[in-house]
Order: sequence, then C-alpha cells, then structure tokens
Amino acid sequence: SVKYLIEKLEANRILSEDEFRLLITEISDEELAFLKERACSTAQKYFDNKIYIRGLIEFTNYCKNDCYYCGIRRSNKEVVRYRLSREEILNCADTGYSLGFRTFVLQGGEDPYYTDDFLEDLIKAIKNKYPDCAITLSIGEKSFDTYARLFKAGADRYLLRHETANEEHYKKLHPPSLSLQNRKQCLVNLKEIGYQVGAGFMVGSPYQTVDHIIEDLLFIKELNPHMVGIGPFIPHHQTPFSNEAAGSLRLTLMLLSIIRLMLPNVLLPATTALGTIHPEGREMGILSGANVVMPNLSPTYVRKNYELYDNKICTGDEAAECRYCLERRINRIGYRIVVDRGDYKPLSY
Ligand code: 5AD
Ligand code: FES
Repeated sequence: SVKYLIEKLEANRILSEDEFRLLITEISDEELAFLKERACSTAQKYFDNKIYIRGLIEFTNYCKNDCYYCGIRRSNKEVVRYRLSREEILNCADTGYSLGFRTFVLQGGEDPYYTDDFLEDLIKAIKNKYPDCAITLSIGEKSFDTYARLFKAGADRYLLRHETANEEHYKKLHPPSLSLQNRKQCLVNLKEIGYQVGAGFMVGSPYQTVDHIIEDLLFIKELNPHMVGIGPFIPHHQTPFSNEAAGSLRLTLMLLSIIRLMLPNVLLPATTALGTIHPEGREMGILSGANVVMPNLSPTYVRKNYELYDNKICTGDEAAECRYCLERRINRIGYRIVVDRGDYKPLSY
C-alpha cells in the first residue's frame, strides 16, 4: 500500500523506481496528508521549528543563454536589461544585514560583464564587511578554475539546478548550446571544490513525465546535495513556452515531502514560484517539509525586470516589507525565522 511505501521511504531514505512510480501516481489526498506529516516531523527533528532566510540579490538580468522556459533568455528583446554596480550590491547586503539576513544569494543570468576579477573582489568585500555571513552564488555554468577562484575568495555555497536529469527532456527545455552532461559536471566540480551545493528542477515543466521526475529523484539521491531547489514551472508570456500549463501545487508539495524524507537534513526552500501559484504556497511548502525561504533584497527599481516567469510575487515590495510579511506568515503556522547562516550540517546517522 501507499502508506507502507511512505513508511519505507522514511526508514530507508530511498525507494526503487517502481515504488516511486506507485507512490507518485497512486497517492490519495489522505495519504498525501500523511506523507506531509512525516516530512514535517522529519524537518522538525533536524531543524526544530526554525526557518532559515536567504537574501536574494538579483544583480543582473543579462543572460547569454536562451533556455526556452526563462523570461530573461537572450532572445527576449522586450526585457529592460539591468546590471547592479558593486556599490548597489553592497547596499543590498547592508539592508539585508540590518534585517537579520546572514546569507546573501548573488543570483544572475550568465552575464560575461561580471568577470572573475569583479566577482572575486565583490565576494571579498562582502565577506570583509560581514564575516559572519555566508555567500551563495547562483550564476550558472563556469569552469572548474572559476568556481575554485570564487570559492577561495570566500563564496560558501552554489545553486545550480540541474533542471531535469533526463537527456531527452533536457534538450526539449534548452537550446543545443547547453548540455546536461556539462551541467552535471559543474555540480560534481562544485562539490569537489568544497561548496555547499544546491541542485533542483522545475515541477511540471513542459514535456516532463513521471519517469523524468523519478530520474530527478534518483539523481538527487546520488548527488546528495546540501540544498534542493524545486518549484513549479510557470509560463512566461515572452518565451516559447508561453502557452504551456504551470506545474501543479499538489505535485510540488508532494515532491518537497519526498525529498525531505530522502535527504532528512537537506536545506529545502519554499520557493517564490510556489508562492506565486498560490497565495499561501510558501506556507504550504513549509508544512510539507521545506525549511528555507529566500525573499528578495534587490532594489525595487529593478525587481520587475527580473521576471523568470509571469506574475512573480513581491516585485513591488521593499526588502523590509517582505521580511516582516514573511515573519508574520511563518509565525502564523507555528514556525520562526532565525538570524543564522543556516549552514548544512552533515548527518550523524
Ligand atoms: N518557471 C519556474 N521556474 C523557472 N526558472 C526559470 N524559469 C522559470 C519558469 N518559467 C527557475 C529555473 C532556474 C531558477 C533560477 O529559476 O529552475 O534554475
Ligand atoms: Fe514579499 Fe510578503 S514576502 S510581500
């Protein structure tokens, strides 16, 4: 039965391909409630009722890539492009620090304007000013040497979603200039260098099948990342996928719970995309086993230009508004935001 599979997943932290297929396709609403409850209780065992916050600084929306799903893809000529200066980025960090953020996520399109020298200097400047903070990079595929240099400069973590672990599916989401093989190699390199690494994928992306999702789960289990970013695919009106359906809330929550049971101590955000498809999506994410939220610290004058998908939430809100809004939302469901780097802590078994 499905209930037995959930118990088996909790005990063994893995299922076979066929068991995953049965779980994902046959689970009833009642069984899903049980799955979420087991996932939540696992999160509480490792993290208590603590929620870690990460301040997201979207510093450039220029991108040399042309991913079919993404609103800031190179071919989108309607986007107003922007780049934040070193000073603007440091200002975001100042605001963030006063609001209690102890992790800054520097995210951007793949933008060659930001050279290794620039990034190295920026990372050093932030770490020098805020030695008690972690820096997470989310700037796409780079060489081993670049990753190593930025790590040496003080970067602690790296987010690079694999997007899909299936070769054919990967080709349907990306132009031929990008390859799954290179993406996976980047993740392996980042781990080897010593970063805390985040992989992940979109739920309900075009052409995704249940078998693809199972491949994603098995890939994640094997990679054993420190963080996993998953959120629903949401169409962007100026992309080739403008007429595709968004990923479902139910499946996204189910997968958050499954990932929590597979990797009990993983850092697992309730994503902005989840908050976009449902007004209480992030709360539901936490109640399915997520333990991280990543509100925006980007200046309000650029926010609406970093639209990876339509109707993204919080694009009109100041960093402080989001910070307090989130606090209220999280407290209401019995959790609390902590002022902490929220580093990955290895399992002791
Ligand atoms: N819907 C949901 N998520 C998206 N991302 C990019 N475009 C979309 C979209 N249309 C996600 C990708 C990327 C992360 C930064 O945002 O998974 O890795
Ligand atoms: Fe941004 Fe609520 S989190 S307004």
